[in-house]
Amino acid sequence: MKLLLAVFKRIHKPDVYVINRRCLSSGASSGLSPLRDEPLIVGSSPELMQRLGSQVEVRTGFITEEEEGAFMRELELGLKKKRYEYDHWDDAIHGYRETERVRWGAACEEVLNRVRSVAFPAGSSLLGPVHVLDLDKNGYIKPHVDSVKFCGSTIAGLSLLSDSIMRLVKEDAANEWLDLLLPRLSLYILRDDARYSFTHEILKDEESVFNGQRVPRLRRISVICRNLPG
Ligand code: OGA
Ligand code: MN
Repeated sequence: MKLLLAVFKRIHKPDVYVINRRCLSSGASSGLSPLRDEPLIVGSSPELMQRLGSQVEVRTGFITEEEEGAFMRELELGLKKKRYEYDHWDDAIHGYRETERVRWGAACEEVLNRVRSVAFPAGSSLLGPVHVLDLDKNGYIKPHVDSVKFCGSTIAGLSLLSDSIMRLVKEDAANEWLDLLLPRLSLYILRDDARYSFTHEILKDEESVFNGQRVPRLRRISVICRNLPG
């Protein structure tokens, strides 16, 4: 992972533009249960929203609570054996433990196949192991761009246990940004420019405010699929 030397801080909030949710919740409850027309993505300008529109997706209710439970049953024992890591000041991630897994039980494999079929072009080569990242309540992910050596054009992640906010900031223009609301049980997808030319981060609880609305950050587990560089 490539680290920015300074953590991005938005000093004053510029005007915020909003696009309405493209995918309606299937009714699965998230901590937030946003209303129908509340946005999932806000950004620094309509032009940026337009330009990145096809490269950033948030699908609410992509998994059910039962499917979340299947992931937790499969992952929790292994995760609990590890300690959350806090002390590496130069790490991109603070307060986390992680694992990766190639073989999954049937229920999880079915969900992962659903993720693969909506996120990646047919026939693309995927990174074999699925990445699982467990952020403690106090954990967060600093701005970074995923390694271009190890990962390809697309990153797709499920959010379990907690809502969170993912912020994208253009690498060479910090005034160009998008905030994504990632409700519990949602899937997000980053592609192309959004993946290569923007840093992404998961905000810490104290800073977790989306479009003026506070989004409490609890323990959060993400299950992330990536493809291989082309
Ligand atoms: C990462 C990352 C995002 C997430 O591990 O590189 O950006 O949703 N994770 O956990
Ligand atoms: Mn990343």
